[in-house]
Order: sequence, then structure tokens, then C-alpha cells
Amino acid sequence: MRIVSGMRSTGRLHLGHYLGVIKNWVELQNSNECYFFVADWHALTTKYDDTKNLRQDVLDVVIDWLASGINPDKSTIYVQSLIPEIAELNVYLSMITPQNWVERDPTLKDMARILRTKEANNSQISYGLMGYPVLMSADIMMLNAEAIPVGVDQIAHIEITRDIVRRFNNIYKTDFFKEPKPLLNNCPLVCGLDGNKMSKSYNNDIKLADTAEITAKKIMSAITDRSRIRRDDLGHPDNCEVAFKYWQVFADDSQIQKVKSECEKGERGCADCKRQLAEFVNNSLKDIREKRKYYEAHLSEVEDIIRSGSEKTSREAKKILHEVRNIIGMY
Ligand code: TRP
Ligand code: SF4
Repeated sequence: MRIVSGMRSTGRLHLGHYLGVIKNWVELQNSNECYFFVADWHALTTKYDDTKNLRQDVLDVVIDWLASGINPDKSTIYVQSLIPEIAELNVYLSMITPQNWVERDPTLKDMARILRTKEANNSQISYGLMGYPVLMSADIMMLNAEAIPVGVDQIAHIEITRDIVRRFNNIYKTDFFKEPKPLLNNCPLVCGLDGNKMSKSYNNDIKLADTAEITAKKIMSAITDRSRIRRDDLGHPDNCEVAFKYWQVFADDSQIQKVKSECEKGERGCADCKRQLAEFVNNSLKDIREKRKYYEAHLSEVEDIIRSGSEKTSREAKKILHEVRNIIGMY
């Protein structure tokens, strides 16, 4: 299958990105034709007035991907804004997309609501932000992809892409574009350290680039079963919203059972428990962090990967755009 997916250039990635999306990509690249890109135009939909770190943010995302096991010999890695063909396809798609399709996109509604409640002076909803799902459709259709591995929060956008594909094929009496399907992974998601969704903007995340010390400190701050006050109080792992959930992701079954029964019998203090949990988390991130250091010290390698991936994608995109112009009947 031809697969396309992307992430906005938000800088260093966290465990939510890794477990929720990247791990899935790493598996998919073994038996599919994969294209992964940094969506720097999508970053501009909300951060158009704050671009001083944009370049570094793009690099940080790619470094985290490479460190996590995205292999440039198997997958094509590129940057959205280096493929101007996407912008042209976006124009064609925006002509055929009814305004109310974008207005009812629930993910976009959420983004708009968050922006409106922000005290920032850029709380404007721009024309570009309204076009978010159309631009995503252009990303996907630019490579005529069949499957899109994303987190659940992106499903609504991909539904719009499917609608746009059908509408395009209908209007121009063609079957050129494939209807892409979203691919979800089955890995349990970790929440943020406060029990909410893990997000950079909530300041509750563990970054892949965090040191072992910072990670341990963050985990020690996580809430546990609130009914426990003394070390020998009987615990309820199911009410331990963060730490026990992390145990379930990072440890094997026998270790999870051990934590559970010791907690329930009051034989395990929360501080000790979290200290040990931090070791498990740090151990499972060790290789990624080492690879990350390597790429940080070899930035030109990263830039070469981006350049050659973008060139390859651009060649592919040109072919598809040529077809699209013919299908529509452009001059
Ligand atoms: N909206 C996605 C995110 O916030 C990024 C993205 C942009 C994307 N274009 C895409 C994902 C196309 C999949 C396919 O992370
Ligand atoms: Fe959670 Fe561990 Fe404390 Fe039990 S002992 S409540 S699992 S942190």
C-alpha cells in the first residue's frame, strides 16, 4: 500500500507521538511504500506570527523520527513546504470543497475554540486555518495514498478527505483518486502526567529528548491513587490514573501483576513505585535517546535525508499534478 502521514512541526516530540503514531509508522514501513512529512504549512495555520524556531522545529521532528526507527532507506521523509505542487493541488481542491464541510469539521472547531479562549493577540481564525482539512487532503491526494496512519484526533479530517476525493471523482467523471482509509494502531495511549491528554501546550509531557533525570522528576510529580496517604494504606491501581497506566504500557505482564498486588496489599509506597517506573520508562527510551544524540551531532546527515526525500516526493507529485491538470482541463 502507498501510505502518507505527517506531523505538524511543533518541535521535540513526546511519548504520546511515539506510542500513538510513530511506533505504528516504524512497523508499516517494512511492508509498504511510506511517505512521512513535516507539515510546516499546517504549523503556520496557528503560528504564523511566531516563526523564529520553525527551521529548528522541523529538524527536531525529523531527528525524533529517525531516532525512533523511521528508516530513510525504507521510508521517504520530506518537508511539506518543499513540495509546492501541494499548494497548487490545494487550490483545485478548495474550489470544489463546500464551505460547510470545513465549518463542521469537529477537530477544527476544537482548534478554533482553543484559539478563541487564548489571551494571545493572534486569536484570529485565519482563512488558512479554515482550510486546514483541505490542505491535509492535498497532502494525501498529492501522492494518491491509500492509507493514512494517524492518531484518533485526525480521523475527522480524513473523513473530509474521503468526501473530497469522492466529490473530485464525481465532478470530473474520473476514478483517478483513491479513497484513503485511516489506520489506527492498537497501542494503548499514555495520558499526560496530570491525567489529561499528553500535549506540549498542557505542559504535561515527557519528551523523547528529555534526559533520564528530567524524566524521573516528571514521573515523580504524577498523581497516584488519591485515597492513599500512608505507605501501607491499601492501594487501588485502577484509581492510579497515571503511574499504573504507564506501568501497563512499559512493563511486561509479570511485572504489572507484581505492582498491582503489592499496591493492593499496601506493600508498595507510591514514591518507590514511581522511582522504579521511571527506570522502566528510561530503559525503554535509552536507544532512542542515544540515536537522537547521534543525529544532533550529524545534522548534515539529517538535512541530506530531508533533501533527497523531498526531491523524490516532488518528482512523484509532479506526475500526479500533470494528471490532475489534464483531468480538470487546465490550459
Ligand atoms: N494534522 C496533522 C497533525 O496535526 C498533520 C498532517 C498534516 C497530516 N497533513 C496530514 C497527517 C496528512 C496525515 C495526513 O499532526
Ligand atoms: Fe499507583 Fe504505584 Fe502508588 Fe499503587 S503504589 S497507587 S500503582 S503509584
